[in-house]
Amino acid sequence: MDIKIAPSILSADFCNLERDLDRIANADLVHVDVMDHHFVPNLTIGEPVVERICQVAKLPVDVHLMIDDPDRWAPGYAERGAHSVTFHMGATHAPVRLARQLHDMGCEAWFAVRPAEPVEPIFDILEEFDTILIMTVEPGFGGQKFLANQMGKVRRLRDEITRRGLKTNIQVDGGVGVKTAPIVAEAGANILVAGSAVYGADDPAKAIDEIRDAARA
Ligand code: DX5
Ligand code: ZN
Repeated sequence: MDIKIAPSILSADFCNLERDLDRIANADLVHVDVMDHHFVPNLTIGEPVVERICQVAKLPVDVHLMIDDPDRWAPGYAERGAHSVTFHMGATHAPVRLARQLHDMGCEAWFAVRPAEPVEPIFDILEEFDTILIMTVEPGFGGQKFLANQMGKVRRLRDEITRRGLKTNIQVDGGVGVKTAPIVAEAGANILVAGSAVYGADDPAKAIDEIRDAARA
């Protein structure tokens, strides 16, 4: 399966974002974490900054909303140029309506589950989403330890997607690096977010290639 790498700019230098976007030119997507101090105990950036990232980035922008009430706020990110908007099962009230609204705006709709949330409730509405994100840490911070116990969920989801002949991607986010990339890829994930493993490296571009190679091995 084709593996895509999405570096998370949460671990980039927020005062040198354009430089740090140029450093990951060999990646497939840019992963942008939006946090609101409510859904998660951290605060990052909002629409104006995401809009500038979408204008400057040469890669598609994958916006990961870790916010309350995405039903209200997600369309704003589509309008500002996101390639995809991910919203959380634990935050949305009407995931199908929101996914269709995003699609009508020309934006992909991605759906996320936290470590304690089951993936099976998504099975009945799987066709509504382009990608399912299985969190491999509790959302909120970069640099946390990878939760290997989420791999059963990735496997069950991959089996369901294959059985139904769907093209849905499986993304994993949290603690992904050279060591864990083969584990998530073997379980069936094909979009790998990596924050500290990319931006914590001396050469982020080299780290991206190494993570991709490790996942393909
Ligand atoms: C965490 C964020 C991640 C974070 C991953 O809540 O959603 O995207 O940047 O960071 P690492 O790769 O360092 O675990
Ligand atoms: Zn993220």
